[in-house]
Amino acid sequence: MQKLLIQGGRPLHGEISISGAKNAALPILCAALLTDESLQIGNIPVLRDIETMLALLNQMGVSVTSDHNAPGITLSAKQLNNPIAPYEMVKTMRASILVLGPLLARVGQARISLPGGCAIGLRPVDQHIKGLQAMGAEISINHGYINATAKKLQGTRIGFDIVTVTGTENLMMAAVLAEGTTILENAAREPEIIDLANCLITMGAKIQGAGTDVITIEGQSSLHGAKYSVMPDRIETGTFLTACTATGGEIRLNNTNPYLLGAVIDKLVEAGAQINVSHNQIHLTMNLQLQSVSLRTAPYPAFPTDMQAQFMALNCIGDGTAIITETIFENRLMHVQELKRMNADIEVEGNTAIIRGIPHLDGAHVMATDLRASASLVIAGLIAHGQTTIDRIYHLDRGYENIEQKLSMLGANIQRIN
Ligand code: UD1
Repeated sequence: MQKLLIQGGRPLHGEISISGAKNAALPILCAALLTDESLQIGNIPVLRDIETMLALLNQMGVSVTSDHNAPGITLSAKQLNNPIAPYEMVKTMRASILVLGPLLARVGQARISLPGGCAIGLRPVDQHIKGLQAMGAEISINHGYINATAKKLQGTRIGFDIVTVTGTENLMMAAVLAEGTTILENAAREPEIIDLANCLITMGAKIQGAGTDVITIEGQSSLHGAKYSVMPDRIETGTFLTACTATGGEIRLNNTNPYLLGAVIDKLVEAGAQINVSHNQIHLTMNLQLQSVSLRTAPYPAFPTDMQAQFMALNCIGDGTAIITETIFENRLMHVQELKRMNADIEVEGNTAIIRGIPHLDGAHVMATDLRASASLVIAGLIAHGQTTIDRIYHLDRGYENIEQKLSMLGANIQRIN
């Protein structure tokens, strides 16, 4: 198994380019299921989760090709002969559930392994199922599989009981081929939902209100092929900004979108960073004493749960005491135990962590437990005195493209070993 070795204590300096957004690319790949014409997608990040989704689509009958002359990859779902998502694939990536809505809409049937609990929480899919049933789908769960059929999905009004990102995306994709109009209320407002909606609109869908909590979709009889480029990854962007705020230094991030990171940038400025943005760049300088920053995660546009672990690492060496409250997932503080092995002073009470800043962390052997927890350990390694070894970095490879190359370009001493 591969590990990362980090010698801490170097400030970050230089510039790198941000990759396409994993959480936008995954639903957009599934949008290819909605048409028998080709969907050409650019700015797809090279990540384990993307490979898993392509393999899943491929075994359903979707052809995946890449051509040196055309950017990105081309998907064609002309023949969909196996609308099944098997357990082996769903268990490695919960976002596999995103095939359910498009399959029901296009071929009227799907058999998807029920995602189990995962490291960060229970994560049920009841809202996805309830919404599809309201649109007329017959759904039963047996032997660990969701078995769904629908003659023709019917547009209707659906109010989510809780705000769910992939739930909103699944129902939006189901609704674009339904008969009549669907109104999604209490919809998630994440920028990745706008990106998916824009891709679907390019394919001929009629969608209004994506990015607000009410989305209206007028069903069409078919969608057509299109070319689309995925938005930049706001969580990768936020992770590098947090890393540099923690280590000190000066970095420029290119090919990103600074306007999707308001809550994160506000907290970094509170921590002492100077940040300047232009339309697709962010420039960060950190040369002040790092201040502790308290935060509470909540759905977009509030502070993202996917940035919570990285800020936990930053707060370990902040001046003062920070309180972090995780409100989205019930078990997303597992990195705390690992940070404590590096000497961090953190107390956990329920879903809240109290972090008392100390002058420095000590390098140690630690273990990644989930994707964003891995990023927090990388940041901790960059600021620690001495060497940090991170095990189980396959979690990191699910969501960060070339992270050690990008950090090396910024001057970090980091290497991958077998
Ligand atoms: C997506 C993101 C993930 C991010 C999360 C929250 C993707 C591929 N993943 O995950 O990176 O951390 O949003 O911003 O985009 N819930 C239910 N019933 C449901 C659906 C969700 O109870 O049917 C609960 C979940 O257990 C969780 C909360 O709702 O507590 C939010 O989950 P959700 O927004 O659905 O997360 P994902 O879409 O899985």
